[in-house]
Amino acid sequence: MPNTILIGMQWGDEGKGKDVDILSEQHDVVVRYQGGGNAGHTVVIGDKKYALHLIPSGILRGKLNIIGNNVVVNPFNLLKEINDLENNGIKVTPENLRISEKTHVTLLYHVRLDEATGKKVGTTGRGIGPTYKDKIERTGIRMCDLSDSKGLEEKVMKNLEVVNPILNCNGSPALSLEEVMEGLPEAAEKITPFIQPNIGSLILKHIGSLLYEGAQGTLLDIDHGTYPFVTSSNPTIGGAFAGTGVYIPFDHIIGIMKAYTTRVGNGPFPTEQENKLGEKLRKKGGEFGTTTGRPRRCGWLDLFAAKYSVMTNGINEISLTKLDVLDEEETIKVCVGYELNGKEIEFDDFSPSRMHEYIPIYKELSGWNKDITDSRNQEDLPENAINYIKFIEDYLKVSVVRVGVGQRRDQTVECFE
Ligand code: GDP
Ligand code: IMO
Ligand code: MG
Repeated sequence: MPNTILIGMQWGDEGKGKDVDILSEQHDVVVRYQGGGNAGHTVVIGDKKYALHLIPSGILRGKLNIIGNNVVVNPFNLLKEINDLENNGIKVTPENLRISEKTHVTLLYHVRLDEATGKKVGTTGRGIGPTYKDKIERTGIRMCDLSDSKGLEEKVMKNLEVVNPILNCNGSPALSLEEVMEGLPEAAEKITPFIQPNIGSLILKHIGSLLYEGAQGTLLDIDHGTYPFVTSSNPTIGGAFAGTGVYIPFDHIIGIMKAYTTRVGNGPFPTEQENKLGEKLRKKGGEFGTTTGRPRRCGWLDLFAAKYSVMTNGINEISLTKLDVLDEEETIKVCVGYELNGKEIEFDDFSPSRMHEYIPIYKELSGWNKDITDSRNQEDLPENAINYIKFIEDYLKVSVVRVGVGQRRDQTVECFE
């Protein structure tokens, strides 16, 4: 399979982990280009469940996995993830995991700052925003800085002079150099063998068999999402190039989208259902955060916003996930437009940051009232499920190439025509 990128079309948790696991079979290399431990990608293989945060899901099939320069990595969490995988019989070595030396490092003060200041947005508390902030401010610490412990201490000390007053202002205790440095030299020693100076060159050696694994989703993009209720990186396609340092011509730009919508944390969500239906979707879809365990907010599919994701990323294929979660609905609503001040808005005027003002315009479709979790081919799907898929394809003018009907690898309907 040629070069492929998988990008979340909503607010994350679309099922990227499962799809990367499926797609990685046909690719040699899996690349993460942004985000960090805020991501939670679940892969279910047989009766085993894996939750990946930093390491690309290609690790489960023994592929080469690359962590790009715009991923932010907490060294302790990385080592824990490696350890958890090894306890599950998955070997992680420098043969199958490479990390860019330019990757920025999340330290204890980033986590504390996030805990102290991230409540309004409802962040994952993993120190993501503060780590990117340091990067932009040019005070960040990168993987290549970890091996020089004296230089590292000096940088940390300088950063603490800025951080501690902010922590104090937010009612959090100041941090000492010793607290931040505790265990870090040992962690650095373990991580050093995985570090690669020039990942671009490595990536280019595998042209024609690359799979890029997005984290988060288009509407959480720092530039193109529902700012300020977003993450601090670019999950959208542009992020793939800045986040690795090389241009790759993608043959397959797969947008991954749930058959309904979820969101964790705060921010606008026009099709949200804060009622029995929302609760039902949460329960049936197991909609609790992979990283934080928080209940996910649930609502109807938003095709108007999906059209924006198609545009932003140049999506040429869609993977529709969790269709089985709608099995019991008599009627299914889909947002096909928005009203603002009593007037339908034009797509040219769509602004994600104004989504809290928008009132959804719904199209109602008939449900299928049938368990589809055993469907494996298009012919196995009930007529109304096919109608639902066709409606999405017609609206977005993009083909649905895969439909998810359950958590397991095999619970998938391929190649929708
Ligand atoms: P990601 O962050 O995009 O990788 O998604 P998460 O792993 O956070 O959340 C998606 C959840 O839905 C996981 O628990 C998956 O195992 C599960 N899942 C993925 N695809 C399907 C599907 O087609 N049907 C059902 N019922 N669950 C699915
Ligand atoms: P995956 O890769 C869903 C959300 C947080 C919060 C906002 C900012 O599993 O799809 P951050 O910690 O990034 O500063 O939080 O972004 N968020 C996610 N929501 N899935 C994710 O990742 C997310 N990563 C961050 O809930 O609203
Ligand atoms: Mg997730």
